[in-house]
Amino acid sequence: MEAPAVLRYPLSMTTPIPEPAATAPAFELNGRRVELAGSDPTESLLRWLKRQRLHGTKEGCGDGDCGACTVAMIETDADGRSHYRAVNSCLLPMGSVVGREILTVEALADGEMLHPAQQALVDHSGSQCGYCTPGFVMSLFAGGYGGELNDHTTEGNLCRCTGYAPIRRATAELATLDFSADRFAEGLRRERQSAGEAMLGHYFSPTTVEGALALKQQHPEAAWIAGATDLGVGLSRGQTVASSFIALDRIAELQQIQKTANGWRIGAGVPLSRLESELGDAIPALGEMLRWFAARQVRNRATLGGNLGSASPIGDLSPLLLALDARIELRGPGGMRQVAADEFFTGYRQTVMARDELIVVVEIPAGDSTCMAYKVAKRQSDDISIVAAVFAIGLDEGQSIRHARLAYGGVAATPLRARGVEEYLVGRRLDRATVETACAMLRAAFTPLSDHRAGADYRRALCASLFDKFVAERFA
Ligand SMILES: Cc1cc2nc3c(=O)[nH]c(=O)nc-3n(C[C@H](O)[C@H](O)[C@H](O)COP(=O)(O)OP(=O)(O)OC[C@H]3O[C@@H](n4cnc5c(N)ncnc54)[C@H](O)[C@@H]3O)c2cc1C
Ligand code: FES
Ligand code: FES
Repeated sequence: MEAPAVLRYPLSMTTPIPEPAATAPAFELNGRRVELAGSDPTESLLRWLKRQRLHGTKEGCGDGDCGACTVAMIETDADGRSHYRAVNSCLLPMGSVVGREILTVEALADGEMLHPAQQALVDHSGSQCGYCTPGFVMSLFAGGYGGELNDHTTEGNLCRCTGYAPIRRATAELATLDFSADRFAEGLRRERQSAGEAMLGHYFSPTTVEGALALKQQHPEAAWIAGATDLGVGLSRGQTVASSFIALDRIAELQQIQKTANGWRIGAGVPLSRLESELGDAIPALGEMLRWFAARQVRNRATLGGNLGSASPIGDLSPLLLALDARIELRGPGGMRQVAADEFFTGYRQTVMARDELIVVVEIPAGDSTCMAYKVAKRQSDDISIVAAVFAIGLDEGQSIRHARLAYGGVAATPLRARGVEEYLVGRRLDRATVETACAMLRAAFTPLSDHRAGADYRRALCASLFDKFVAERFA
């Protein structure tokens, strides 16, 4: 591995290990403080709720796919503003809820009076067997106070018997209501700070990068954990994912999005729904990819760092970062270094990251190329990619191609650029003959696998047809 390009912030071996939080671990559930000392930090909130006989929150899949387990978590941003976020309780380890406020469906009705999110489903016959209903209610609840009441609000909630038309009608009615004046809106206005440092058993939640790195020295076997939408699946199934965890979701430095003279610096811990709302318009390919990335509940927790850290060949943000020439900033005990996104992945679920390094920032340069993202999956929403592709093409004044990036996920053990095709394109005009030759090259560029999602031939065909579609849509 090359020597670090830049070294800053060295963490000496004498950096003090942060003291565990002084107060007893606890969280607020439906307005009441609950002590957690002695609780298993890797048990999911869903399982914990069941053990407390709070049966309103339902379990469907146990791995983030159905939304039956949706609860609302209060999140306070750096400016002190609080929001309800719909999250999957099956993916939330108890270690991550310490110091937080959670609302379940039991908290919504006021005596006999239903909350508008419940009443709208009653009024529009949006519930038949009722199993999915608490999850829909909680998504609509969070959407109501967050100003998002459309199909995306409930895209992570599956209903097997009612059909979606009545639920969509309920959503449309809710969108006409004012959510700013009731006790839940009032609750959001209460002064509070973002969740602070915490510890539950071997689940550590530091608030600084230095603290996280120091904990890693003390617990070298610990796994970084951010939104837990990837690791939480294994935990939810009772797998021993790691012997201890260092959570990155309370580190303010990892939550920043900065516009610089050359582009953007995005903290590795920024949840994807924030990326979607804050950068979706500025970087349209990012906005487009995030539209089809999992569902609202997952995007409310999942992070960019976690997507890269999981190093999945079908991680949807990796081809985007490859196509945009992004750089990944890593921090470890030796200091900081930057790696080109293109050099980050070294093999199936392997990266250049050392065990004691973590991703802190992703730098995306501003460019003037035309860039767009495409995702093909079996289901349009909330599904894993068969192939994801991101293309960036820049033309010079004479209409010849001066810049070409064609990046793919789902075609090999790592996300890859079609470098041979990029080289072929540069210097040529983007006419039909060029596109046809490029497409023929793309059909032969990779040797993807056949699996339960799709055959290798289909994946190869997609590599070409998506590029063809990009040119037709953007350069016609
Ligand atoms: C229902 C469902 C749907 C999904 N759909 C998609 C999809 O459409 N597209 C897609 O790409 N993915 C999808 N995923 C996978 C997952 O949501 C993403 O990979 C997400 O970005 C992971 O982020 P996280 O913060 O939750 O990661 P975590 O689960 O917290 O961590 C994932 C890995 O990254 C490491 N890690 C986390 N942060 C850092 C860091 N800062 N530095 C170093 N290592 C770090 C962890 O150690 C771990 O190995 C889906 C998951 C679920 C459950
Ligand atoms: S139980 Fe299906 S998403 Fe949690
Ligand atoms: S009402 Fe039965 S699954 Fe939705």
